[in-house]
Amino acid sequence: MAQARESLELPSNNVTDKGLDRDCTTLSRHVLQQLQSFSPEAQDLSALMNRIALAGKLIARRLSRAGLMEGVLGFTGDVNVQGESVKKMDVYANDVFIGVFKQSGLVCRLASEEMERPYYIPENCPIGRYTLLYDPIDGSSNTDTNLSLGSIFAIRQQEGNDLDGEALDLLAPGRKQLAAGYILYGPSTMLIYTIGKGVHSFTLDPSLGEFILTEENIRIPNHGPVYSVNEGNFWQWDESIREYIRYVHRTEGYTARYSGAMVSDIHRILLQGGVFLYPGTLPKPEGKLRLLYESAPLAFVIEQAGGRATTGHMEILDVVPKKLHQRVPLIIGSPKDVAKVESFIQNGH
Ligand code: AHG
Ligand code: MN
Ligand code: MN
Repeated sequence: MAQARESLELPSNNVTDKGLDRDCTTLSRHVLQQLQSFSPEAQDLSALMNRIALAGKLIARRLSRAGLMEGVLGFTGDVNVQGESVKKMDVYANDVFIGVFKQSGLVCRLASEEMERPYYIPENCPIGRYTLLYDPIDGSSNTDTNLSLGSIFAIRQQEGNDLDGEALDLLAPGRKQLAAGYILYGPSTMLIYTIGKGVHSFTLDPSLGEFILTEENIRIPNHGPVYSVNEGNFWQWDESIREYIRYVHRTEGYTARYSGAMVSDIHRILLQGGVFLYPGTLPKPEGKLRLLYESAPLAFVIEQAGGRATTGHMEILDVVPKKLHQRVPLIIGSPKDVAKVESFIQNGH
């Protein structure tokens, strides 16, 4: 009898314990576990990730009610430093990241796609020697139609005094990133991050208001069926890219997916394999994507998951930016698929 009870209870106890353990693995706890330390640096990184998560929650909350509120959707009428029309959500999300780091003592400087020059929080600078680089809303064109969006972030150590405000220390390759990741605003809100120890995903549990661990040590498949590119640019690409696209058209097993937000497209590729491309075009030989706020953070994540990110000629993480808002051609995803595109660029087949 006792034995029967035990065998009946054991499985359910196990399930409960596992479930509880899972519910308790919040983002900040996970960062500390990863670093296996309570050193000041580990505490800093954990607190930094916690603030980024708070920004994600605030942005997700606004997006979830956007259609019910005045003044949330649409354009502001301004053009940003990238020459792109600014949406109200771009401004809101940009300010949210600044707001969560004010009085945090953590971040001295924030640099974003939406700001011509870095934003300083002088009161944090004596202690918080970190810079946050970010794309507050990725996939802005999806904002007004309730489609997936993202935020992209990277953390770098601030080097030197930067008294002239030129942020010259940021003109360093992506290998200098201490942490990077993205938040995906889809049917669920997810946060994916790396601190150079693998890639881990978290899902926002709205009832708890916490990001809870979903998957640890995500590995990207070596090859996948998806190619993700804006084929509307076909006649503006170099012939080598056109040849690659002709190759996937005539080869069985490929399928196209392109959402207008690279965070969504690259998230799918991280989990299911494939390749995302934003090559240079005739009017924009460097392509569209920004090295410091988009390509380098996502390259760090994808490399950590076993994938690759290249310009077609060199690894994205080795590119030294010449200016803050530098753009760069990007080919990112499964190693085999990235190598295939590269071979078209370098050898024509
Ligand atoms: P952002 O909204 O930050 O400007 O980024 C949009 C990026 C990227 O997410 C997306 O894949 C790409 O631009 C879409 O550009 P096209 O419309 O030129 O394809
Ligand atoms: Mn973007
Ligand atoms: Mn953006």
